Amino acid sequence: MSNILEIKNLSLKIGIQDILHDISVTVPEQGIVSVLGANGVGKTSLMRCISGIYHATGGEILLEGEDISKLKSHEIVERGIMQAPEGRQIFSNMTVLENLVIGAGPLGRQELDHVLALFPRLEERLKQQAGSMSGGEQQMLCIGRALMRKPKVLLLDEPSLGLAPRLVGFICELVSKIRAEGYAVLLVEQNVKAALRISDTASVIEHGKIVIEGDASALANDPRVAEAYLGGHVHETA
Ligand SMILES: Nc1ncnc2c1ncn2[C@@H]1O[C@H](COP(=O)(O)OP(=O)(O)O)[C@@H](O)[C@H]1O
Ligand SMILES: [Mg+2]
Repeated sequence: MSNILEIKNLSLKIGIQDILHDISVTVPEQGIVSVLGANGVGKTSLMRCISGIYHATGGEILLEGEDISKLKSHEIVERGIMQAPEGRQIFSNMTVLENLVIGAGPLGRQELDHVLALFPRLEERLKQQAGSMSGGEQQMLCIGRALMRKPKVLLLDEPSLGLAPRLVGFICELVSKIRAEGYAVLLVEQNVKAALRISDTASVIEHGKIVIEGDASALANDPRVAEAYLGGHVHETA
């Protein structure tokens, strides 16, 4: 399978601070690739470089072989990269339907039908005020909005953040379902355990640098990952 997104030797400096250093991550046409790490290591900054909110100071971001690292964020959306941002950023005072329509592209209705078919729970709640839904449902809406244009690459920034363990499982199932639909997903998470369960490959970053990378199952069984991120226990993979 060929790769849809290739991040090559990416670095980001803001002022004198080195935020990201020599980051390389490859996302295949279908699958879940995750970038894992504690709070403050640079995960959101990486997402922002890909979506053109920040501009990398070195390296390349290739979408289908073409460097997009200098493009503006609206151009990146038009090329087919959509982000479900950290903290969800849904419009709480608007309805579910209004939130989805904001994500719509030129095909409108067709795109809405696609998302509602994927997440029937949103269809039941189209007229509900978005802010009155549960955290898990709000995250579903945030992801649904990002899927409205059938993106070539879906970026998910900490979808499990702030959710109860039961809802973390619900979101993981949702992301796996999206993968099964044929999407390419780049997931960043500090919930290493949950992310490794659903990912194909993963990279762990510390202080803006990749320190461990490989197949998710290998990482789940890596003592260094277990020690630092899984509470000392190598977790059993299915
Ligand atoms: N616009 C910015 N200006 C200054 N520092 C920033 C900016 N954006 C991110 N940073 C810094 O980059 C580091 C990584 O932040 P971030 O990417 O949000 O990490 P994570 O998402 O892994 O928690 C932090 O030290 C943060 O303060
Ligand atoms: Mg973040």
